[in-house]
Amino acid sequence: MGKIGTDIEKAAGLLRQGQLVAIPTETVYGLAANALEEKAVLKIFEAKQRPFFDPLIVHVPSLEQALLYADISDERLMALARRYWPGPLTLLLPKKELVPPIVTSGLERVGIRVPAHHLTLDLLKEAGLPLAAPSANPFGYISPTLAAHVDKQLGNKVSYILDGGNCSIGIESTIAGVEGGSLVIYRLGGLAVEAIEKIAGPARLMLNSGSDPASPGQLTQHYAPRKKMFLGNLEDLAKEHAGKKTILITFGDTPQDTAGSAVLNLSPAGSITEAALNLFRMLREADESGADLILAEPVPPEGLGAAINDRLSRAAAAA
Ligand code: TXA
Ligand code: MG
Repeated sequence: MGKIGTDIEKAAGLLRQGQLVAIPTETVYGLAANALEEKAVLKIFEAKQRPFFDPLIVHVPSLEQALLYADISDERLMALARRYWPGPLTLLLPKKELVPPIVTSGLERVGIRVPAHHLTLDLLKEAGLPLAAPSANPFGYISPTLAAHVDKQLGNKVSYILDGGNCSIGIESTIAGVEGGSLVIYRLGGLAVEAIEKIAGPARLMLNSGSDPASPGQLTQHYAPRKKMFLGNLEDLAKEHAGKKTILITFGDTPQDTAGSAVLNLSPAGSITEAALNLFRMLREADESGADLILAEPVPPEGLGAAINDRLSRAAAAA
C-alpha cells in the first residue's frame, strides 16, 4: 500500500504539510501532527473522535527543545527530565505562548516528553517540528503497540504510518508534574513510581477522578475492549460465569485449572516488564477472539505492575 513504512523524509514532509502521521514510540504508537499548527492538531481530534477537553502530549527530540515550549523551573522536574528523557515520562509544565490552546485544552500546562524510539527521534529532528500525539487508537479503545493495530483502526485517517516494530515498553508514559509544591503523578505508566521517587523524592498519586475532564486518560472506563471484561480472582470469576464462553488473561503460573477456557498469559515466566509488553496486544486478541467474556487477574503491583493493573481495571470498568 505504501502507507506503512520507514521513510522518515516522507513522514516529515507530510507533517510539514499539516497531515497526520502515526509514529512509533517505546510506549505505544502515537497519532501525530504539527503541534504548532492548530488546523493540523484539529485533525487528530477528528480522527480519534476525541473530546476537545482532552489535552495532547507534545513530543520533542531533546530537553533543549522542550524548553522552547515550556518552563521547567521546578528542580525535581528538571532532575527527572535529565535522568529519564528520552523515555516513558511526560511532564506537565507551564506552557509558553506559542503552544496553541487546542493542544492543552486551554489549560496552562502542556504535557511534554522526549520519546525513546530512534525512528521518531530522527523524524522529530528531520521535521524540525514539535509533534502533538495522543495514542493512535479511537478514543477509549485499547492503545496500539504495532503498526498493524494503527492501520486496522485508523489506517484510512492517516497519511502515513511510520513502522517502528513492536513498542518496547507497551504501556503509555507516566505523567508527572508539580501542584501546590508537591510532586504529583497523574497517570501510572511505563516509568515506575519507584524510579521517579528515587530521583525526585516522594510523590503524591492523583490518579482517579471518575469523570474529571482535566485528564480523560484517567476516566474510570478507558483502554476498553468491546467485549465485557471482569477483573478479579480467576477461580471465583470462572465460577461466577460458568457456562459462558470465556477467555482468560493470566500472569505467571496461575490458574492451574482453566476449565477449557482459552488462555492468554501476559508472562508465563512471571516477568512484569514482559507483561507490560504483551498487555495491549493480548487485550486486542481477547477482544477479537470467539469468546463472550474476558476474565483477567491483577498482576503483582511492583514496578510497572501498578500501571498494568490500572489499565486492567479501567478496561474492566464497563462490565
Ligand atoms: O506514552 C504516551 O504518553 C503516548 C505516546 C504516544 O507518547 N501518548 C499518550 O497520549 O498516551 P494520550 O493522549 O492517549 O494520553 C495522554 C494523557 C491524557 O489522558 C491527557 O488528558 C493527559 O495525558 N494530558 C496531556 N496533556 C495534559 C495537560 N496539559 N494537562 C493535564 N493532562 C494532560
Ligand atoms: Mg490514549
